[in-house]
Amino acid sequence: MNPSERNLRAVNLPAHWAPDSWRARPALQMPTYPDAAALESALAELRQLPPLVTSWEIFALKQQLAEAQEGKRFLLQGGDCAESFSDCESGLISNRLKVLLQMSLVLVHGLRLPVVRVGRFAGQYAKPRSADSETRDGVTLPSYRGDLVNRPEFTAEARIPDPRRMIKAHARSAMTMNFVRALIDGGFADLHHPEYWNLNWVGYSPLANEYQQMVTSIGDAVRFMETLSGSEVHNLNRIDFYTSHEALLLPYEEGLTREVPRQWGWFNLSTHYPWIGMRTAAVDGAHVEYLRGVRNPIAIKVGPSVNPDQLLRLIDVLNPEDEPGRLTFIHRMGAAQVADKLPPLLEAVRRDGRRVLWVCDPMHGNTESTSNGYKTRRFDNVRGEVEQSFDLHAAAGTRLGGVHLELTGEDVTECTGGARELTDADLERAYRSTVDPRLNYEQSLEIAMSIVRKQNQQTKASPHA
Ligand code: PEP
Ligand code: CO
Repeated sequence: MNPSERNLRAVNLPAHWAPDSWRARPALQMPTYPDAAALESALAELRQLPPLVTSWEIFALKQQLAEAQEGKRFLLQGGDCAESFSDCESGLISNRLKVLLQMSLVLVHGLRLPVVRVGRFAGQYAKPRSADSETRDGVTLPSYRGDLVNRPEFTAEARIPDPRRMIKAHARSAMTMNFVRALIDGGFADLHHPEYWNLNWVGYSPLANEYQQMVTSIGDAVRFMETLSGSEVHNLNRIDFYTSHEALLLPYEEGLTREVPRQWGWFNLSTHYPWIGMRTAAVDGAHVEYLRGVRNPIAIKVGPSVNPDQLLRLIDVLNPEDEPGRLTFIHRMGAAQVADKLPPLLEAVRRDGRRVLWVCDPMHGNTESTSNGYKTRRFDNVRGEVEQSFDLHAAAGTRLGGVHLELTGEDVTECTGGARELTDADLERAYRSTVDPRLNYEQSLEIAMSIVRKQNQQTKASPHA
């Protein structure tokens, strides 16, 4: 069946599903809005607003993810832990885009594979929390749940869930997306001009030499091909960039769930590639119920407490037809646990013969607190979890098809280690995240380079694999 036939086959409609059928299931991590009428009026407004992405972009991404499942592409997914409304600003957005473009250049060059580029942005505004409330000095208030829901300041007024923030989040997502699209369409990602996306660090970083050599060799290859063919190599100025966020606040996601002309079924048009977080991944929970019915490619975080049976049931519910590109598992075990926890899951899915894309998130299993009170992650653990994951997949006969990272294009000091060997004492210099610690631009590039080194070692070890 070719893809267009598949799109027209309405029998694929998931049984007993509607954009609001999640409401009959236990919905974890939802705020309690104090004013039901205000909530209804915000949702009514949201349902009228234009979508942020289109169904054909969603299908194009699904096709690329299907290729990643077959080992023909590598997924790079990255961005902030939590976007904030005040970070919707040109410098921050373009720097984040720059670091993702630089990393993808390193990966394309080193892995000899096209990269699927997906940002954690233009909608990453809702955060799961370990507790519903927070107590400071004897005062207890609702937890901050991301800018989509309330504000981070520790005051009663700031913490009240405000449904108007959904309208604001939609607008900020649209502005972010519009700016990213304009940059890309205007030639920002042009391979003839990698200097467009240079960040300041290129002038002084310990990694700069290696990166510059790569840029020079790509430039030589492009010019060589152009000389041979006597004309410009086309498409080097055009790339695809997709968006993703955690589909956590279900009333918001429902408001942007739409039907489109000439397609059967429903689409989440707030983002290309929504994912389900670890805390809301129960197979009979509201989040799985909601996402099983939309036609987007979807991802689900897999933590150390998931067992093989649960994983297979998730596949049954989320991808019953074994559709290529549909389902991604993002494992996030932590460097200390991955060798124990991952192999039984890989083995179960492989034995079952199901199609999934395996991606490693080396951030969320490696969070720790320093003695001076910062939430941080050690670079060696982040790199270690990715490297171990490559080996564990190779041993299980499966394939690691991508990475999911929290990163920024700024010179922050939130994760320790890396080429500059940041210590706990460095954290206070430039710690800006309101939620989880991100890799800074240099640590991000270093991860991309270590992925390439690891892959090349593996290819040398088993050249016919
Ligand atoms: C996140 O991606 O920011 C997150 C909260 O991850 P997880 O659901 O894996 O804990
Ligand atoms: Co996070």
